[in-house]
Amino acid sequence: MRIAIEELNFQKLMDNSLNSTLVLDKRTIVYANSACIKLLSLNTKEDILNQNFDFFLHPDFHSICKDRLKRVVEYQEIAPLMEQKMIRLDGTIIDVEIMATPYQHERKIVSHVIIRDITEKKVIQKKIMQSEKLSLIGELASGIVHEIRNPLTSIKGFIQLLKIDFPKNIYADIVLSELEQIEQITNELLYLSKPKETIFESEDLIQIVEETVNLFGTQAFKNNIEILFDKRDCEGINVLGDRSQLKQVFLNLIKNAIESMAENGKIHISAEKDVKQVHISIKDSGIGIPRNQIKKIGQSFFTNKAEGTGLGLMVTYNIIESHNGKIEVDSEVGIGTVFTVKLPYVKRIL
Ligand SMILES: Nc1ncnc2c1ncn2[C@@H]1O[C@H](COP(=O)(O)OP(=O)(O)O)[C@@H](O)[C@H]1O
Ligand SMILES: [Mg+2]
Repeated sequence: MRIAIEELNFQKLMDNSLNSTLVLDKRTIVYANSACIKLLSLNTKEDILNQNFDFFLHPDFHSICKDRLKRVVEYQEIAPLMEQKMIRLDGTIIDVEIMATPYQHERKIVSHVIIRDITEKKVIQKKIMQSEKLSLIGELASGIVHEIRNPLTSIKGFIQLLKIDFPKNIYADIVLSELEQIEQITNELLYLSKPKETIFESEDLIQIVEETVNLFGTQAFKNNIEILFDKRDCEGINVLGDRSQLKQVFLNLIKNAIESMAENGKIHISAEKDVKQVHISIKDSGIGIPRNQIKKIGQSFFTNKAEGTGLGLMVTYNIIESHNGKIEVDSEVGIGTVFTVKLPYVKRIL
């Protein structure tokens, strides 16, 4: 026997819908389904019934929402999907898409409001935009870098020749060190523009870190900075990766740590492992990163240094992401910063 439509319990059906649904009498909420309660992290329907819809809507949208609802009720128009923001009970703001249609109840017109949570969609959109920006930088970089590197190599060579002829001239050294700065920027840009087809092999991570630390020997000594490396029980631990890229990661992190301390200081590098990952922490006693800047860390061209490129950490984050790892930052202004690189390690078959 077929079920007649009148026998269906539409309230129950609506209540189980995945879309959040509300019914508004003017601006007062007279019905909310379970999805809506969940969306706004409310406990019961009592938390929302008879409340003003504005209470859950971000203030930026109060006036537009008032207009839209007015048109729904007065002219019986459909208010199309529009991106807005709502506020949950705990104060967090969520991105939503809202539409409203008129619904006639006896002689009264009320608004049937449908809300879709698009927080996740927004996050993905943001990531796509960031990666599009990156590929654009990559494209631009590869062209520019090649144009710059060729003349740079000959300028460097000629200055070195001039230095032989005029050994007492102090300007040659300044020119050379400035050229090195340009070279460094082009190297970082070149990494970005390189096709990222790398072959991952099992590499000794502790050895990679150690070799990188050794590269900083003279610079650290000159600045009176001590670099300690505590390997704990991680010696011989292997990760699947690209050796030169991983070196680049620790190079960037240690370089930043040194640069965060004018002179005199300690950099504490330590290795630790859990069941799946090896953690390498680089802890400095430098200037620290203000809380509001932590979010910007790893974004292209974000730098606080007069001679910085703001590319080092972006490259670092990209490399670690492509190695299925993660980077965590913990920092306190005036105390120091800890960057922790977490990478999955290769388990030995016994
Ligand atoms: N260890 C650190 N201590 C303090 N600030 C840091 C540290 N590492 C990175 N930063 C901040 O992040 C910014 C970006 O770093 P990075 O991408 O390496 O670019 P750059 O070193 O060229 O400025 C730096 O300018 C600095 O403000
Ligand atoms: Mg840097």
